[in-house]
Amino acid sequence: MKIAVVGTGYVGLVVGACLAENGNDVICVDKDEAKVRSLQKGKIPIFEPGLEELVNRNRTEKRLTFTSGLPRAVRASQIVFIAVGTPEAEDGSADLQHVLGVARDTAKAMNGYKVIVDKSTVPVGTAAKVREVIRRETTHPFSVVSNPEFLKQGAAVNDFLKPDRVVIGAEDERSAELMKELYAPFTRTGAPIMIMDCASAELCKYAANAMLATRISFMNEMANVCDLFGANVDEVRRAIASDSRIGPAFLFSGVGYGGSCFPKDVKAILKFAKDKGYDFKILDAVEQVNTRQKQVLVEKMQRHFGSLKGKTIGIWGLAFKPRTDDMREAPAINIIQKLLQLGASVQAYDPEAMDVARRHFGNKITYGKKGYDVLAGADALALITEWNEFREPDYGRMKKMMRQPVVFDGRNIYSAAAMKAQGFTYFSIGRSR
Ligand SMILES: NC(=O)c1ccc[n+]([C@@H]2O[C@H](COP(=O)([O-])OP(=O)(O)OC[C@H]3O[C@@H](n4cnc5c(N)ncnc54)[C@H](O)[C@@H]3O)[C@@H](O)[C@H]2O)c1
Repeated sequence: MKIAVVGTGYVGLVVGACLAENGNDVICVDKDEAKVRSLQKGKIPIFEPGLEELVNRNRTEKRLTFTSGLPRAVRASQIVFIAVGTPEAEDGSADLQHVLGVARDTAKAMNGYKVIVDKSTVPVGTAAKVREVIRRETTHPFSVVSNPEFLKQGAAVNDFLKPDRVVIGAEDERSAELMKELYAPFTRTGAPIMIMDCASAELCKYAANAMLATRISFMNEMANVCDLFGANVDEVRRAIASDSRIGPAFLFSGVGYGGSCFPKDVKAILKFAKDKGYDFKILDAVEQVNTRQKQVLVEKMQRHFGSLKGKTIGIWGLAFKPRTDDMREAPAINIIQKLLQLGASVQAYDPEAMDVARRHFGNKITYGKKGYDVLAGADALALITEWNEFREPDYGRMKKMMRQPVVFDGRNIYSAAAMKAQGFTYFSIGRSR
């Protein structure tokens, strides 16, 4: 099929490359011309495992091209995916200006029947708004489909190629059939393609993220209670995770969730429910718990050190989760800001997010070339993102480099007993210290 994907961020680029991988002709469009130029040369502007290889294979095969010219891409395509950002607006709602702008420009360029697919995460009712915007600009026939994306950064290519399910909100047979045909190669192992109305499809994505965010905030509160009673949240987690009604996913306590999705999507539901007069109490609490949780590690540091003024804190991990360079809403940002505010100096390292961090913090902090660099003269190490390379460190080397052997583990990746045996003063989340 001939496809245009508008927006080449973490979602659009993965969608475009994966659709091309299955033999479709895909034109990826972005308004950021520098990004387009670098993609045309095979340079991927983000870190996502497996993506560079996929993009370059399909680019070389000429199934995947990049442009900043939307009209030509629309005219050449039967299906147009809108995968642009829907950032949080000041009032917490999802800002739809990019989505609706692309819809308008797409309509103006249409030269026949097109299916316009909302791939961005958009509030309930957006498909209807997109339909209205297009109707105003064109007399050509079209369908608007809602097709939320469930990929996880860090495993995005695999998630798109082998989805758990595909959700399609479609209001007519023709577009539903076309979408089923498009996704058939991705669902041969039996993953369902679920066809439903657009409003339900739009809500599916928010419901999924809200449920996952709720599990995280729930376990973070449970960890805080464990700390109060000298209990171990890992034991509690193992016990409830083995209950088949609960299951093991998203039950790890830590320094709170971040990223480009959970925080903004939780706020967006709160806002669109409130606009209809509904107070979504659980999600309000989920959001408040998460904001507080991002300070828990610094509070533990304050309790241990008294004042943090003049202390040097080494940070391992800046991205909001491992296997991405994305720092949007990352807990590391809140933690570092607070440490600086309290007069500590920060030296930080992340395997992939160093460029992003430099753009964010500039010279307010210092940066290590390797993980061990940030331990030199450190009064403590704070582990914020659980990259694999931090899991089995050389404890002897750490101790030699640090001013004090103190570790604040924000992701509970180390064993308290092992840390103690190595001579570290060790703090983690919900494991009694
Ligand atoms: N990141 C994720 O893990 C994830 C997962 C599922 C869904 N989503 C949703 O997908 C959407 C995109 O997210 P993302 O993380 O890829 O965003 P992103 O910010 O990484 O990328 C958005 C891209 O769209 C481009 N863009 C914006 N306006 C444009 C326009 N008018 N014309 C052409 N290009 C334009 C930007 O230049 C940018 O390259 C959001 O709604 C997000 O909530 C994200």
